[in-house]
Amino acid sequence: MIHSRITGTGSYLPGAPVGNAVLISTRGIDSSDDWIVERSGIRFRHFAPAGIAASDLALQACQRALEAAGRQPNEVDLIVLATSTPDFIFPSTATILQDKLGITNGCPAFDVQAVCSGFLYALATADKFIRSGSHRCALVVGAEIFSRILDWQDRGTSVLFGDGAGALVLEASDRPGIRATALHADGRHRDILAVAGHVCGGQPVGDPFVRMDGPAVFKFAVKVLAEVAEEVIAAAGMTPAQLDWLIPHQANIRIMQATAKKLRLPAEKCIVTVDRHGNTSAASVPLALDEAVRSGKVGAGETALLEGVGGGFTWGAALITL
Ligand code: UT7
Repeated sequence: MIHSRITGTGSYLPGAPVGNAVLISTRGIDSSDDWIVERSGIRFRHFAPAGIAASDLALQACQRALEAAGRQPNEVDLIVLATSTPDFIFPSTATILQDKLGITNGCPAFDVQAVCSGFLYALATADKFIRSGSHRCALVVGAEIFSRILDWQDRGTSVLFGDGAGALVLEASDRPGIRATALHADGRHRDILAVAGHVCGGQPVGDPFVRMDGPAVFKFAVKVLAEVAEEVIAAAGMTPAQLDWLIPHQANIRIMQATAKKLRLPAEKCIVTVDRHGNTSAASVPLALDEAVRSGKVGAGETALLEGVGGGFTWGAALITL
C-alpha cells in the first residue's frame, strides 16, 4: 500500500515584523494594541514590499522545504499551491513557481482556491495523487499577500492579516504519514467573508477588498473546526488523547483555544504563531508547522492535527504522523 509522508518543510515571512502600534499609526487605523491583542491574540505581522508576488514568497518557502527533504527541484513531479492572492488572474501561481524553481520536467502544477483552508485542500489533493500511485514527490504550498486586498480603514479586517508562505514536500512512502483528511464546503455562507469584486472590461467591478462579518465567522469557525477535528481523528482510528499536537489555522487565539478545549487538549499542545504572523490565510498552517518542526518542538514520529476554515465557506483537516 502506498502512503504519503512529509519529508521536508519550509516557510518564509517577508520583511520585518510590524507591531500593532506601528500598523495603527502608519495606516491611520481607529484601533488599539490592547483591543487587537485581547480580541485576536495578534501582536505582529509581516508585509511583502511592492513588487514582490505570492510566487516569490512561495519560492523561498519551497527552496527551504526541498533542502530539508534533500530533494532537487526537478525531482518534484507535482505542485499544488493554495492562494487567494495569486500573482495574476492567470497563469496560475503554481506554474510561475514551477518556472522560478527551474522545474522543466513538465510536471503538473495548479492552484487551489479555498481561502484560509486552502492548504488543507492542497494537502488532501496531493495526498490522493500520491496514494493513487500516479505521482511520488509533491510540493504542497500555501502563499498569500493579503496586504494587497486590505482596506486599511476597515478596522474589522486590516489589523488581522499578514503575508507569508509555507510549503512541504510530500513523498510516496511505505509508512503512513498523512493518516486521514477531510474537506467540506457550504456555499450558503459565502457572504460572511469575501472579496466580492472582479475585473471586467479592464476595470475592477464591485468591492476589491476583504470584507468580513467577524462574529459570524467566529461562531461558524468554532463549530466546524471542532466537528472536522473529531471526524478526521475518528477516520484515522484514533482518539484526541493520542494527539501530540494541534496545528490549526492561525486566525484568532480564542478560536484555537476553543478547539483545543473541545478536544480536551492542554493549551501547550496547540502550536501558536498568530501572535507573530497574524492571519496569513492559506499560508498559516504550513508556516506554523515549519516553525514548530525547525524549533525542535514537533519531531519525527509525532502525530499532529492540522485544520483550517475560510471563505466559501470551506473547512478541512488532516491527521498526520511526521
Ligand atoms: O481566516 C478566516 C477565518 N477568520 C476568522 O476566523 C476570524 C473570525 N473572527 C474574529 O476573529 C473576531 O470576530 C474579530 C477579531 C474579527 C473581532 O472580534 P470580536 O470580539 O468578534 O469583535 P466584534 O466584531 O464583535 O466587535 C466588538 C467591538 C465593536 O464595537 P461596538 O459595536 O461594541 O462598539 C467593533 O466596532 O469592537 C469594535 N472593533 C474594534 N475596535 C477596535 C472591531 N474591530 C476593532 C478594532 N479595534 N480593530
